[in-house]
Amino acid sequence: MTLRSSVKTRTKLPDVGTTIFTVIGQLSSQHNAINLSQGAPNFACDARLVAGVTRAMEEGHNQYAPMTGLRPLKERIVDKIASLYGTRYDVDSEVLITASASEGLYSAISGLVHPGDEVIYFEPSFDSYAPIVRLQGATPVAIKLTVPDFTVNWDEVRAAITPRTRMIIVNTPHNPSGKVFSAEDLQQLALVTRNTDIVILSDEVYEHVVFDGEPHHGMATHPQLAERSVIISSFGKTYHVTGWRVGYCVAPAELMDEICKVHQFLMFSADTPMQYAFAEHMADPQTWLSLSAFYQRKRDLLQSLLAESPFKLLPSQGSFFLLADYSHFSEESDSEMVKRLIVDHGVATIPLSAFYADGTDNKIIRLSFAKDEATLRAGAAALCQVKPR
Ligand SMILES: Cc1ncc(COP(=O)(O)O)c(C=O)c1O
Repeated sequence: MTLRSSVKTRTKLPDVGTTIFTVIGQLSSQHNAINLSQGAPNFACDARLVAGVTRAMEEGHNQYAPMTGLRPLKERIVDKIASLYGTRYDVDSEVLITASASEGLYSAISGLVHPGDEVIYFEPSFDSYAPIVRLQGATPVAIKLTVPDFTVNWDEVRAAITPRTRMIIVNTPHNPSGKVFSAEDLQQLALVTRNTDIVILSDEVYEHVVFDGEPHHGMATHPQLAERSVIISSFGKTYHVTGWRVGYCVAPAELMDEICKVHQFLMFSADTPMQYAFAEHMADPQTWLSLSAFYQRKRDLLQSLLAESPFKLLPSQGSFFLLADYSHFSEESDSEMVKRLIVDHGVATIPLSAFYADGTDNKIIRLSFAKDEATLRAGAAALCQVKPR
């Protein structure tokens, strides 16, 4: 029985209802489908991390951490970013440990975007950006990436900038397409934001998952961009612990001050024992340097297993995701295709239309390869059985 309320409420997010993610989740569990849908790994994290958290708890680190995070962890992050990307952030004023990347995105947008502002973002996109912008009384302005190569048309970005544009949200490596920014993209982004007060919010949660020997072209590699950027990352994605809900954010002190004001009243601080464990774990650079090769093996395995499937795979340059096009063999919408895959073939994927506010259907589905080998093999075998319709 549900409790009924006579209180009248007015929604701030009228367009957010039951999402396709919920529908797919329910249908998948009804059919016990193999899960190639979520970006959450189904394999264990490093046992040293669990031991580190346990030890921290046993040693009594169970109360609030400092508001911006444990200093030893922030020092590790500063050193890592300096060694990989060349920008050295100030430990005390330019690093914030957040309760997940999601919290970092929320605190950054809420701290820096005002009612009436416009925020440019690119679709297909991670689902939280536009709703968070709307919650500030601001307007999300979607620009579609070109299909099927998912590049930014920088002329379109230039044309979309108005005096109200306060922020541009970018995401590299990109969920859901697996596209990564090139040095030329950074150059273009620097040009379109030059002499403006536009802040770049750069979602780099897959920063350590870039394939084929390519570097990660994050904002911290480009001094002109770094000085106007907030960079978001996630321990969940890097260390296979999405349920632990810890991430971080770096930004110049002037921007960070405003982000911290929101973080202070939203979370105050992130989980304490996890911060101890991450600080210890980050002593070994291999813990992030090995990640691209680890996920590349998974991408390559899934790609090779799907060579005999009717799907046309699009290139994945990074992230946990691979897109599969079926427009040459079926007229079904991508949601219909995803439902057929669950019901008839027992495998769960995500329709790309779920990543567009207007439900654009390119007849493409997203596969996650953040899965153990048995799951990848079983999922691929099911996809190979699909018949043109
Ligand atoms: C692009 C992108 N940004 C942010 C997040 C959220 O990360 P976290 O789990 O640390 O909140 C995800 C998770 O899937 C993501 O794919």
